[in-house]
Amino acid sequence: MALFTKPPQADINPLGASPVSRTAKVSNEEFTQLRDFIYEQSGIYIAEARKYLVENRLANRLKELNLKNFGEYYYYLRFDPGRRAELPKLFEVITTNETSFYRNPPQLKVFQEKVLTAELDKLRAAKSRKLRIWSAGCSTGEEPYTMAMILHEVLKTELPTWDIKITANDLSEGVLAAARKGIYSDYALRTTPKEIIDRYFKKEGEIYHVEPRLKHLISFGPINLSDKTMLRRVERSHIIFCRNVIIYFDDDMKRQVIESFYDNLLPGGCLLIGHSESLHSITRAFKPEHHVGTIVYRKEA
Ligand SMILES: C[S@@+](CC[C@H](N)C(=O)[O-])C[C@H]1O[C@@H](n2cnc3c(N)ncnc32)[C@H](O)[C@@H]1O
Repeated sequence: MALFTKPPQADINPLGASPVSRTAKVSNEEFTQLRDFIYEQSGIYIAEARKYLVENRLANRLKELNLKNFGEYYYYLRFDPGRRAELPKLFEVITTNETSFYRNPPQLKVFQEKVLTAELDKLRAAKSRKLRIWSAGCSTGEEPYTMAMILHEVLKTELPTWDIKITANDLSEGVLAAARKGIYSDYALRTTPKEIIDRYFKKEGEIYHVEPRLKHLISFGPINLSDKTMLRRVERSHIIFCRNVIIYFDDDMKRQVIESFYDNLLPGGCLLIGHSESLHSITRAFKPEHHVGTIVYRKEA
């Protein structure tokens, strides 16, 4: 976890969460209105069985805005003059930002030893030194910083001769602010090899600062994956990471986002998704490459 404070998500991560105010209960009608609004604005789909999520996560918004019930909050989101300023706050509380450095090591091993190495060789053969990676749904930055570390590990002293950019986007402004700071606790490093920690972080007491040489490779910025126009503006990529993000979308939204990734990828580029996610019923556009520990989704060259 980055050193980033977020309204309580007691339902997901009870560690460190303060007790949630349970004064207001969401009615079925209010739930449907809020669920549809959230879906419309972000593509995040909250199933009926997770109604408690709306109650838990939005309770503090009601409190802060001094609203009596969820119906009033819905009205606020739709019609209040303050609705524009409220939307980012809504995004912050409804998103799940769980992440860590070196998340899913078997997949990263495939990335480092197969995908990245082959891509770099291909670029060298084409006399190009330009590499673009996109981390879509980057949360507090652990994923793009991990990519930056892997690039340093692979390219070593050759790295300065390359033109590399990792575009890292998220819906939540709060997580992006934390990502830009690059300050973490040891919890965020729980799956990171010790030698990597020693090489890429400066430790001050209990706090870890990522090195500037990693920050230089990354461009953090906001994006809403449900906004096709915004996605079209992202520079075309050789590799896209979108891990543990589409899990929050319904199939229609998954299709729309994956289609945008396909369009964004350069010929022969590839997409990596989370280990519990699948494109099986979503698209046949990519060629799946099966490796130990992961599937790499390849766009035709
Ligand atoms: C569980 S985290 C995954 C972080 C990282 N990719 C990983 O695998 O460790 C999911 C992230 O997706 C972001 N997200 C959810 N819906 C989004 C949307 N519509 N547009 C952009 N980001 C979104 C959330 O804000 C959250 O930070």
